Amino acid sequence: MKIALVGGTGDIGTGFAVRWGQKHEIIIGSRNVDKARESAAAVLQLLEGVGNVQGTDNASAVAGADVVVLCVPYEHLASVTTGLLDSYKSQLVISPVVPMIYNGKFFQYQPPAEGSAALQARMLLPKGVRVVSAFHTICAAALQDIKRVMKADIFICGDDAEAIKITVELAGEIKSLRPLNAGPLAVSSMVESLTPFLLNVARKNKIKDAGITVVSERKI
Ligand SMILES: NC(=O)c1ccc[n+]([C@@H]2O[C@H](COP(=O)([O-])OP(=O)(O)OC[C@H]3O[C@@H](n4cnc5c(N)ncnc54)[C@H](OP(=O)(O)O)[C@@H]3O)[C@@H](O)[C@H]2O)c1
Repeated sequence: MKIALVGGTGDIGTGFAVRWGQKHEIIIGSRNVDKARESAAAVLQLLEGVGNVQGTDNASAVAGADVVVLCVPYEHLASVTTGLLDSYKSQLVISPVVPMIYNGKFFQYQPPAEGSAALQARMLLPKGVRVVSAFHTICAAALQDIKRVMKADIFICGDDAEAIKITVELAGEIKSLRPLNAGPLAVSSMVESLTPFLLNVARKNKIKDAGITVVSERKI
């Protein structure tokens, strides 16, 4: 599968490239082609030369991809997405984007008028593009460390069964993430808001690289 990482030179983009670069064709996108190529070379080094990772501009990355992951900070989501509209046709777009602020005391979810970052992306993108919301509660540093076993759940929401299935498979390829279907794209605000919640808990309790998992039973 060809996977484009828009803004893939950053923290989470690097993590996805590392985790998927040995099985898929990864196209790291950037505003700056040289930066994208340097990023691709760095990822290949982390993979000890075994992988298929290239770097290019965001528009070319999206145009050549089956799956696009939006790896930009929320504040640039709208400008980056509208700037790339001509490159989209029928790709599957995965949004791990979390609109949140730090108000000086704690992290706070701050969704746009559409209700969530994923719904905003859905509104901006062409009709044929399927949007799935996922990967909000993983830690980029842990993702970048290919040896690290990530014992966490990934909450996935979307309105297209095949798009969910592909996202579930991609999440399941990352050792040992457990993909969980969280419902339609309309619930993305609930999933996205778990990130500031998790960061607040991690800060208060000094938990490094925190994640979330759903338990089915608890012995007291
Ligand atoms: N970091 C995490 O642990 C984590 C976990 C879960 C979800 N997320 C979500 O994943 C997304 C990316 O997070 P991140 O930490 O990887 O972000 P980041 O490293 O701060 O930035 C990612 C990339 O965004 C691009 N970018 C920066 N400013 C831009 C602008 N003005 N216009 C267009 N592109 C710009 C840059 O790529 P170029 O300079 O190459 O264009 C940059 O490398 C966020 O929405 C975040 O909420 C992050």
